[in-house]
Amino acid sequence: MLNNSKWISYPENTQYHAPVFRRCFSARDVKKATLCVTALGCYYGELNGKRIGDFILAPGCTSLKRVQVQTYDITELLRDENKIEFTLSKGWFCGRLNSRARDRMKDVYEALRCEITLLHKDGSKEIIATDEGWQVGLSPITFTDIYDGEHFDANYVPSFVPAKVQKYDMVSLVKQQGEKICEQETVLPHRIFKTPKGETVIDFNQNLTGYFEFFVNAKAGDTVSFSVAEVLDKDGNFYTDNYRSAKSELVYTCREGENIYKPRLTFYGFRYLRVNSFPVEITRDSVKAIVLHSDMKRTGYLDSSSPLLNKLFKNILWGQKGNFLDIPTDCPQRDERMGWTGDAQVFVRTASYNYDVNRFFEKWLEDMRLDQYPSGSIPFIIPQFWDDCGSSAAWADAVTICPYQIYLTYANRALLKKMYPAMKKYVNHIGTQTKTKNLWTGCWHFGDWLGLDAPAGSYKGSSSEDFIASVYYYYSALLTAKAGKALGYRCQKYARLAENIRKSIINTFTEYKTQTECVLALYFDVTENKKAVADKLAKMIRENGKRLQTGFVGTPYLLHALSQNGYTELAYDLLLQESYPSWLYSVKQGATTIWEHWDGVNDRGEFWSKDMNSFNHYAYGSVADWVYGVACGIKTVEDKPGFEEIIIEPHPTKKLDYLSAGIDTVRGTVSSAWFKEGDSFRYEITTPAPTTVIIDGVIHKVERGTYVF
Ligand code: BGC
Repeated sequence: MLNNSKWISYPENTQYHAPVFRRCFSARDVKKATLCVTALGCYYGELNGKRIGDFILAPGCTSLKRVQVQTYDITELLRDENKIEFTLSKGWFCGRLNSRARDRMKDVYEALRCEITLLHKDGSKEIIATDEGWQVGLSPITFTDIYDGEHFDANYVPSFVPAKVQKYDMVSLVKQQGEKICEQETVLPHRIFKTPKGETVIDFNQNLTGYFEFFVNAKAGDTVSFSVAEVLDKDGNFYTDNYRSAKSELVYTCREGENIYKPRLTFYGFRYLRVNSFPVEITRDSVKAIVLHSDMKRTGYLDSSSPLLNKLFKNILWGQKGNFLDIPTDCPQRDERMGWTGDAQVFVRTASYNYDVNRFFEKWLEDMRLDQYPSGSIPFIIPQFWDDCGSSAAWADAVTICPYQIYLTYANRALLKKMYPAMKKYVNHIGTQTKTKNLWTGCWHFGDWLGLDAPAGSYKGSSSEDFIASVYYYYSALLTAKAGKALGYRCQKYARLAENIRKSIINTFTEYKTQTECVLALYFDVTENKKAVADKLAKMIRENGKRLQTGFVGTPYLLHALSQNGYTELAYDLLLQESYPSWLYSVKQGATTIWEHWDGVNDRGEFWSKDMNSFNHYAYGSVADWVYGVACGIKTVEDKPGFEEIIIEPHPTKKLDYLSAGIDTVRGTVSSAWFKEGDSFRYEITTPAPTTVIIDGVIHKVERGTYVF
């Protein structure tokens, strides 16, 4: 791929000043013109002053072992005489966020590689490719970085020198695999106000990921400058401490007259813009926010009679939009924005119902496959931008959980097949690490991250790490066995291993002292006395005022563990709980996305901490999968994945007047709604496939169609 071209760069590392590459060429009697392009870093391309394509932050975020190549039909942009230009940033490949890149930054920095193929009307072909004939200069983007934002000087005139050819052969070139990132929607300012400190702030009324565009008539040399924030502090002042070291700013030097600008090579996570400098009085017409995310099609719909619950559903969608930017990031704002594996596995089922994420996960899981350590260990962030990212239970298990869920939702056998060796290798790796056969003990983990029962000063809940790890060892072995079976392999090793681990867990861990421990014991069926454990869990929750204490590990399964064991009403109590800690607590506090911490802001309006306090952290949004799958009861049958066969078993409550869920599956739309009618419920069900409807324990077998019960 791109065999005729060479990597070209600026002659030396320009640090964070973006280089611009250019080439002029004639193109007469051309029938079709195609551009194949990629970069180490991110590129922004223009042909004859017009933007090429709509891919933002191309070539995307991948394992450092590969870069994606994009192909554009540029016939329409072509003239007889042409100028093509590409501006590059260090992006994900060698920008500040990628600490692994730092060591080699002296030798490897942003570079461009492309080929333009001109197909002439007479059938002849001409290729214009990056080589020493290209020129490069320093662009008007005088600073750009994913964490820190952008500086642009509209009066800057680049001077050009010949580009330097580089031997950057450490990355392989692959065709675009994921969904492209593109501009998805525009959000207009909701209000502009002065804070008590006297700062001018624009509120978009929605925490989002993307950038903003402004318009101003100015004098040459005037400055426009904005900073971003997700929240205001308790006094109503602009608050940026939770961005940690990420500067997330835009500084723009105006040209004389009209200036319209939006950043090109960075993104921000924000709800508020602080106007640090603007040449004239800023109005609501001066600026708009532009939402960026991977180009996923919306497939899931939830609705209920509760406005608070509906707002939670919306926040979950915004959490996904804000964090599905080529990779599933933990958060889009602070100096992190990494593909945290734990967060992704916690949310993958919900993600796959809300949006079509089949291709998105195919790409990210390929990055995971490539970044798996030779030992089989899975780094806790993918792409692996940090050194020494070992395997933590519930994080590394994304290697088994994500492909298996994508298989269940979309019947994607090809992905499962591709990932199967990585799954086996990972499970085998645990066997070499553990201190106790058939358990996973004595190793380091993130534990029940952010569990509220954490000892003072710790991020880790107090659930036993050996227990959590052993349960995930069991789960990953089980999923590997199921994957092998689904793929038609005869291998019994993982099924036997899973059964042995299960037995060992039952024999070893007999006491459950936290909510999360009870939840895991129940959900993963690793206890012999489910009734007693469920009763204990229910008691703990009730004694805590019908409130949860779970972190990243326990929360996704909490409502499932309750409803599977006769405590559906208590599950609803947790879902509908409005006081801290709960899902609706953040909604009542005005959240427009999902928070990292149950107590991101406490009752007194104070922040939990400045170190780890993201207000756009999608993981706890995984509660939506209980609403789709249990409350409305839509499930695919495990050996008929992709909703080839469906089970619909709603679990209604009188605490709501109605609840509905719909998923546009690969087979068509499935929906399930229930309405409280006096003492009973009316159910409306539409299914695209043979379905077993279970209402009040009574089984109805139906074919595709719409039914009322
Ligand atoms: C991230 C989390 C992640 C965690 C690992 C944090 O900094 O934001 O979401 O899973 O580290 O424990």
